[in-house]
Amino acid sequence: MINNSKNNKKLGWVITGSGHFFEECLDIMSNLGEFDLFVSKAADEVIRMYKKKKASFPKNTRIFRDTTASSAPVGFFYKNIYHTLVVAPATSNSIAKFVAGISDNLATNIFAQAGKCKVPCIVLACDTEPEHDTKAPSKMVKVFPRKIDLENTKKLKSFESTKVVSSVDDLKKVLSKI
Ligand SMILES: Cc1cc2nc3c(=O)[nH]c(=O)nc-3n(C[C@H](O)[C@H](O)[C@H](O)COP(=O)(O)O)c2cc1C
Repeated sequence: MINNSKNNKKLGWVITGSGHFFEECLDIMSNLGEFDLFVSKAADEVIRMYKKKKASFPKNTRIFRDTTASSAPVGFFYKNIYHTLVVAPATSNSIAKFVAGISDNLATNIFAQAGKCKVPCIVLACDTEPEHDTKAPSKMVKVFPRKIDLENTKKLKSFESTKVVSSVDDLKKVLSKI
């Protein structure tokens, strides 16, 4: 189990609707200590399309779905309860919004407010290479991220207090050091 509490603060985790790395991220979460999970509307749908229909989260995990227009759970960031935010996996859609400074749903609001509250962020981006294999709900498929997707991922790397990782192993390594 990864000990993810630090100075009485905990980890926040945003999951977005990416099939790529989805199951791997659920596996990592099942081995974490207490954390708060923020689920995008698309992630809530995608989770049902993959084999692991019932994700197992550690006891005391608080799960927030995207049900409010104002993304009310962002208020937690002003209570100073998180030491780090993880966004994993991060869709090309969410990354495009992150780099454009858009906050119009739960995932993008949590990312923006973490930044405004100076909470460091780790993002596992799906689109980091011009070509990759990914698991669709029923089979493996090839994906060719567009120039715009790769450029957005690159732009995100220049954000303050934001670490962009491109593999599950790198995410695990970074998590083990926080
Ligand atoms: C089965 C399935 C798998 C998907 N996988 C990916 C993916 O690997 N990467 C990606 O960028 N979008 C993927 N999408 C598309 C996103 O879910 C879609 O762009 C959605 O609007 C993202 O919303 P969010 O960023 O708020 O979670 C997938 C959609 C479905 C239905």
